Amino acid sequence: MDLFDRLNKLRERGLAEIAKVKNEQTLNEVRVKLVGRKSELTEILHSMKDVDPDKRRDIGKQVNKVRDLFNHNLDNVKTEIAKELAEKQLEKERIDVTLPGRTTHVGSKHPINIILDDLEKYFIGMGYQVVQGPEIETDHYCFEMMNLPKDHPARDMQETFYIDTEDLLRSQTSGDQARVLETFDFSKGPLKMVGPGKVYRRDDDDATHSHQFMQMEGLVVDKNITMGDLKGILEMMTKHVFGQDRKTRLRPSYFPFTEPSVEMDVSCFNCDGKGCAICKYTGWIEVLGAGMVHPNVLENAGIDSKIYGGFAFGVGLDRFAILKYGIDDIRDFYTNDVRFLEQFSKEER
Ligand code: PHE
Repeated sequence: MDLFDRLNKLRERGLAEIAKVKNEQTLNEVRVKLVGRKSELTEILHSMKDVDPDKRRDIGKQVNKVRDLFNHNLDNVKTEIAKELAEKQLEKERIDVTLPGRTTHVGSKHPINIILDDLEKYFIGMGYQVVQGPEIETDHYCFEMMNLPKDHPARDMQETFYIDTEDLLRSQTSGDQARVLETFDFSKGPLKMVGPGKVYRRDDDDATHSHQFMQMEGLVVDKNITMGDLKGILEMMTKHVFGQDRKTRLRPSYFPFTEPSVEMDVSCFNCDGKGCAICKYTGWIEVLGAGMVHPNVLENAGIDSKIYGGFAFGVGLDRFAILKYGIDDIRDFYTNDVRFLEQFSKEER
């Protein structure tokens, strides 16, 4: 067959083959076959040596033309395939901006923290400092410095978890009093502090008892502090938290670190003072202990109790939260059920 004929046929066949190519892999196969070193085009070039020298140039030109044409079309197909691939990829990764967004879950403040934060602000506003003692306290600060020597019978009121003979999970925040008193510089003015934090007592958990709860210690020491100052602060604080209408009362009590000592009750949220199971049919719920700082506590910290005196109180924040929000099971505070916690998401943050 004439080499020109052969070239023409090859061109038609080649172009048809290129047109059928659908993917990268066949594209490479077709490229090797049509313009590779062992292609028919190369073969035709080799066979030119048997052709007339004047025809040779024309055939050479024609071979180059066909090769250029093949390469050109192969490149076009290549661009086409790449474009299709990119489109497919885009389609796959398409973002539907009309879909509703995913909301992140915002937690809510724990009811005890709502009360605590509010009280801290309240006391800071009156010039108190906020201190924080360790939850693992020493027997020395928790008891001895607070006028509770090792053999004192009142220790039985607060059975707790000892870690060793000297360290314990504190049963009260009163140790904070001793820690601050020990280092306080009275030349700078009166001592006014609150110390919030978790405390622990060995107890059988039920609706009104928990082996862990939150307390807030309060201490004011200066010259000429009276029981009237204490009563005033306690009443103001309870009215601030519960509103002007809730009734309060003080009862005489006993604590080794205060003399005289009192306990404060708030009228029951559930029966409004008539008597029910929650207030054990008394109409009242005890919320804090308080009293005038015992001289021994001051002397233990190196303070002259003939010059200085003061008052102290310890608030049960769980009780405050129970009364304020009408919660009937103290264990709800510590079991972290979000359905319980979410009820307070509308409260002040
Ligand atoms: N620490 C006492 C308690 O936990 C409360 C209290 C504090 C009483 C300060 C008087 C003064 O029961």
